[in-house]
Amino acid sequence: MYKLKEIAEKVYYVGVNDRQKVLFENMWPLPYGVSYNSYLIVDEKTVLVDTVDVCYADSFLKKIADALDGRSLDYLIVNHMEPDHAGSIRLLRQAYPEVQIVGNKRTFEMLNGFHGITTGLHEVKDGDSLCIGKHTLSFYFAPMVHWPEVMVTYDQTDKILFSADAFGTYGALDGGVIDTELLLDHFWDEMRRYYANIVGKYGSPVQKALQKLSGLDIQIICSTHGPVWTKHIPEVIQIYDQLSRYEGEDGVVVIYGSMYGNTEQMAEAIASSLSAHGVKKIVVHNVSKSHSSYILRDIFKYKGVIIGCPTYCNQLYPEIDSLVSKIELREVKNRVFGYFGSFSWAGAAVKRLAAFAEKMKWEVVGEPVEQKQGLQPDKYEACWKLGEEMAKRINNH
Ligand code: FEO
Repeated sequence: MYKLKEIAEKVYYVGVNDRQKVLFENMWPLPYGVSYNSYLIVDEKTVLVDTVDVCYADSFLKKIADALDGRSLDYLIVNHMEPDHAGSIRLLRQAYPEVQIVGNKRTFEMLNGFHGITTGLHEVKDGDSLCIGKHTLSFYFAPMVHWPEVMVTYDQTDKILFSADAFGTYGALDGGVIDTELLLDHFWDEMRRYYANIVGKYGSPVQKALQKLSGLDIQIICSTHGPVWTKHIPEVIQIYDQLSRYEGEDGVVVIYGSMYGNTEQMAEAIASSLSAHGVKKIVVHNVSKSHSSYILRDIFKYKGVIIGCPTYCNQLYPEIDSLVSKIELREVKNRVFGYFGSFSWAGAAVKRLAAFAEKMKWEVVGEPVEQKQGLQPDKYEACWKLGEEMAKRINNH
């Protein structure tokens, strides 16, 4: 029944689109949905690479049965054990009891923990290969991209990299599967957002993996999320390389919390000053309105970060406090930072933002501005000066 996309000869896309889930990981919005990608290689042996979220197991298993056309499934390669990809393993095993599951030692610990599966295992070591007929598949471990058991599979025959979450992005596949047959406009920012939300903390392991894979001739990237990359492989690798080096573009993200608009006026003054002093890429986020998913994306995208908020119960405004903890968790590096705050009777926000800057080892530019109650002319000037100092730093690289 299914007319499956053939990515290379007898290599089929058998993944699914999820347009129902509201929040990925129950945290991150999915305005364009998400895909869970899986691939089936039909050779002398039949090999499935990863599965899908268990909610979509029904159509997933039907696609596999169609592609196998009566043959059995010989191998399941598990590149990643997170349940958005490994969730259907138990049902797959029930449908194909003879299938050998290919993974590493850590994969199998998790396979037991999540699914109670301890038999029919084919353990591989870093660099091992498996010949399945015309295709020879090699396995390269990529620990902490972004789980410890992660590995990637390289098909030497068709030069395909099955890359697990690496090079993945939010966004369902609208009709096509390969980058050349999809509208790509929204995928670039969705890729940055996916990286910032999911992989962000693990820049160093991503760099190690990129280094390790740099010697391979890669013609096709089959990630577990988003388009199959062919024509746009250089752009995709460049985005992952830049993000994992924490290298920001020359722009500034201004983030503020504000209860009654006084701190907001400070943010507006700073943003206007940035523009007046030549910064072209400025994004302003009201932390109570912009989801942190998007704010994190922009913090990963731009070199300059300015944060401000009121003092709340002698602490940071809680929404900013929550954002700051998400930034700390991701250990974002090499940002140029400015900060400001307000209070009604006793200030704490500015000194807490100073402590945050120190913890992050970020370079502080300009003088922090602290305002008591409503915005006064001298504080407006101080905000303008902060914007000017940040602009100088960004424009001079
Ligand atoms: Fe898409 Fe780490 O799972």
